[in-house]
Amino acid sequence: MTDKLASVAEYENVFKGRVHEIAWLYYVSGSDEEITLEQNRNAFKRLRLRPRVLQDVSSIDVSASLLGQRVDIPICIAPTAWQGLAHPDAEVATAKAAEKVGTCMILSLHANKSLEEVREKTPKGLKWLNLYLFPNRTVTLDLVRRTENANYNGLVVTIDNPSLGNLIKFHHRKGISIYSRRVNDYHGNGHLEKYLKIEALPEVVRAIGDRVEVYIDGGIRNGIDVFKALALGAKAVFVGRPILYGLAHSGEDGAKQILEILKSELIRTMRFAGCRSLSDIVPSFVVHESHYAKL
Ligand SMILES: Cc1cc2nc3c(=O)[nH]c(=O)nc-3n(C[C@H](O)[C@H](O)[C@H](O)COP(=O)(O)O)c2cc1C
Repeated sequence: MTDKLASVAEYENVFKGRVHEIAWLYYVSGSDEEITLEQNRNAFKRLRLRPRVLQDVSSIDVSASLLGQRVDIPICIAPTAWQGLAHPDAEVATAKAAEKVGTCMILSLHANKSLEEVREKTPKGLKWLNLYLFPNRTVTLDLVRRTENANYNGLVVTIDNPSLGNLIKFHHRKGISIYSRRVNDYHGNGHLEKYLKIEALPEVVRAIGDRVEVYIDGGIRNGIDVFKALALGAKAVFVGRPILYGLAHSGEDGAKQILEILKSELIRTMRFAGCRSLSDIVPSFVVHESHYAKL
């Protein structure tokens, strides 16, 4: 039995020694100069929390509903490709962890296990498939039918990926010119860090109101980040790399431990903020650090 670690940061610290160097570079690289990758983390750090005391926080409920389906925690699993690079049980291990903790997993289309096998091994878990819209509509339609037949609960369509991310660190190590990206390769190896999501979140939520549920991913590394994202209006958060760190550490147990850590950190943060359920987490708990600079 592998020792459990106490935080996502600790799992991240030992990650490099657990996977092949090429896999490590692929997993940790961001696109181009990796500015967004770093800034997503910093955006969370720039937000401060306001505590609220003298509330009854003896029991805390962190269950949520995603598109009408209940999850036990608002912390779900973002799609990440080729999890077999982190652990031989790959997406099956991740799906089992998600099922045990009672959360939603998005399966990447570039998975090492078939969508049918993942569903068969985890019949109860809430599962969505990450889909791309292929120029050949028959390919897309075939995937939609397979997803339906395997009883997936939803589709997550990636629409902001007109070309693949440019993983410079990764290409350098492989000795491939950084200009030689195979931009149309559907089995390609790019993942994009999108925009500064946490700073754009309030604006998105304001524009959309309650017409559509808003979820966020990118840079969430502890339960305080989860709390901040929920306070700014996200219905749930998704984590990508932290699950890979756990998976590489100890397969299903490691991925489950990552989710448990984030859950217990969220609960602790809610206690400090005097929140008993997710609906108690409102924007006034979060202040941008610049607020204090003006005092
Ligand atoms: C190794 C890796 C593979 C990824 N594969 C996919 C994918 O197949 N489909 C997708 O939509 N996003 C993919 N992503 C993006 C993640 O879903 C997520 O948006 C990103 O990792 C940011 O979250 P994080 O900071 O928690 O890792 C991938 C990210 C990484 C690091």
